[in-house]
Amino acid sequence: PSLGVVLVAAGRGERLGAGRPKAFVELADETLVERGIRTVIALPHAGHLAVVVPEECAAETLEIIDAVAPEGSGWEVSVVHGGRERHESVRFGLAALADTVDTVLVHDAARPLASRELFERVAAEVHRTGDAVVPALPVADTLKRVDAQGVVHETVDRAPLVAVQTPQGFPREQLDSAHATAALHAELPTDDAEVVQRAGGRVRIVSGEARAHKLTTAEDLILLENWIASERR
Ligand code: C5P
Repeated sequence: PSLGVVLVAAGRGERLGAGRPKAFVELADETLVERGIRTVIALPHAGHLAVVVPEECAAETLEIIDAVAPEGSGWEVSVVHGGRERHESVRFGLAALADTVDTVLVHDAARPLASRELFERVAAEVHRTGDAVVPALPVADTLKRVDAQGVVHETVDRAPLVAVQTPQGFPREQLDSAHATAALHAELPTDDAEVVQRAGGRVRIVSGEARAHKLTTAEDLILLENWIASERR
């Protein structure tokens, strides 16, 4: 296989307060991690998927994989234990990918409705350019810089700003070497492109999509459930 996907699902999800890791919460009768696995194995070119989960969820994850991606689906699927920080979970997932993988997509299980088309768009742009690629959306709100006292100091020009999502795509070598060399501990990177940026790599954008919204709070759960319901109508 030449496409590798790291699906990171090892966060605790404390802001959601569901009492279990966020990726194992159900959204309209299906866990987030299951939705992510389904989307990946529906991609046109089979490859190697590493699902990174909390250690205590590994058995449940294997059951999910047996149900949705039985052998013969074309995809090789591995379960990997996560790390304390997101970037560690990504590194462990990367390490588990087959040597033949040359392009990697890293995706948050917390974005369960990201479409197959989005995965394909990101991978195609990595292949076309040889650079790192992230899905991005324009920023709709007016942005202000504020201090710790809550006083506004200035309005920030939003024209050159974008909000970025996952899946984020990389030539495998670029992401492997960025993880090996970039300084990540003082200030934690919040996405994979930042790891590549710190190592001096070029990152490009493609159009993101509203439905790739990240589930963080209980309100997001309602938003995503409504989205699913409206698509069934
Ligand atoms: O917490 P947050 O929503 O920013 O996490 C983004 C994604 O990274 C989630 O899918 C989460 O499961 C994953 N993650 C992880 N390992 C960690 C922290 C977060 O796989 N240690």
